[in-house]
Amino acid sequence: MHTPVMVSQVVNTFANIPTGVFIDATCGSGGHTQAVLQQRPDLKVLGFDRDQAALCRAAEALSSYGEKVQLCHTTSDKLASELDSRGISEIVGFLMDLGVSSEQLDTAERGFSFHQLGPLDMRMDETGELTACNVVNCYSEEQLAGTLKQYGQERFARRIAAAIVKNRPLRSTTELALVVVSAIPARYRRTGGHPARKSFQAIRIEVNQELKLLSRTIPQAIDVLAEQGRGVFISYHSGEDTIVKQQLRLAETGGCQCPPQLPCQCGAAPSIKLLHRSPKTPVVTEVASNPRSRSAKLRSFEKLPKTC
Ligand SMILES: C[S@@+](CC[C@H](N)C(=O)[O-])C[C@H]1O[C@@H](n2cnc3c(N)ncnc32)[C@H](O)[C@@H]1O
Repeated sequence: MHTPVMVSQVVNTFANIPTGVFIDATCGSGGHTQAVLQQRPDLKVLGFDRDQAALCRAAEALSSYGEKVQLCHTTSDKLASELDSRGISEIVGFLMDLGVSSEQLDTAERGFSFHQLGPLDMRMDETGELTACNVVNCYSEEQLAGTLKQYGQERFARRIAAAIVKNRPLRSTTELALVVVSAIPARYRRTGGHPARKSFQAIRIEVNQELKLLSRTIPQAIDVLAEQGRGVFISYHSGEDTIVKQQLRLAETGGCQCPPQLPCQCGAAPSIKLLHRSPKTPVVTEVASNPRSRSAKLRSFEKLPKTC
């Protein structure tokens, strides 16, 4: 079972939001939703996930809440249209817990894991068209190197891309892991976790277009929140956290470009306030009991009243 991360920080952030509709944009197995509802049974939850299997688990875990919880097979960037189609004009809480779930990682047939033999798949939504097999076997060497560099910060992106192209066609996760490891100089294989970890992460992010969807989701979440409504983003990758940080900062300043030492003259209006400047991270005991939480970074904000 997936263990939800930083649960007390999430629950505390939403403790005093107004009553209304709460969006869990990455519902997974419903762990965070359940914790939020335990504290705030007055909220109605709309839970999204792009993975149908996750929604089935969430439906079971949240069945005791009945009509209070609705689940929807969709992606977070469809937020505005999903709300429109239900006649919901504003929400009071928004949560996006990014990345993959333990169930996705640990199910060999989903192809996310370099530890287990599986197909080159890595789709969170199994109806999606792009698979890891397409990326690994059809991208040009240059495209592959770019993906590994941009989404994995992989220092040996060029060497790995060349090795993948040379060994095509690759058919399984373990075959890919072996090729990646063989392309990394021996003395660098011993540090920083499994040597194929960054490449697998990069290919997964490309397959699921994770950063694009995140960028499109943030402005919609800010826009649709009611005054005093709150939002939380939990990221696990520096690329995700940079996007969250930059977009929240833009909303916090309203895009003001005036010199910081002078009063604002451009009329930019902030739409949110950040609840803390630096991201929150899990405490040592949480990382010890759930090592997958170790890279989590939580950023939260509150919607400000609209200025006329
Ligand atoms: C880290 S897990 C969330 C776990 C969840 N908070 C819980 O307590 O069980 C991330 C989930 O979000 C889904 N997901 C990732 N990006 C998504 C997106 N942009 N839109 C919808 N679902 C997404 C994944 O399929 C996965 O089930």
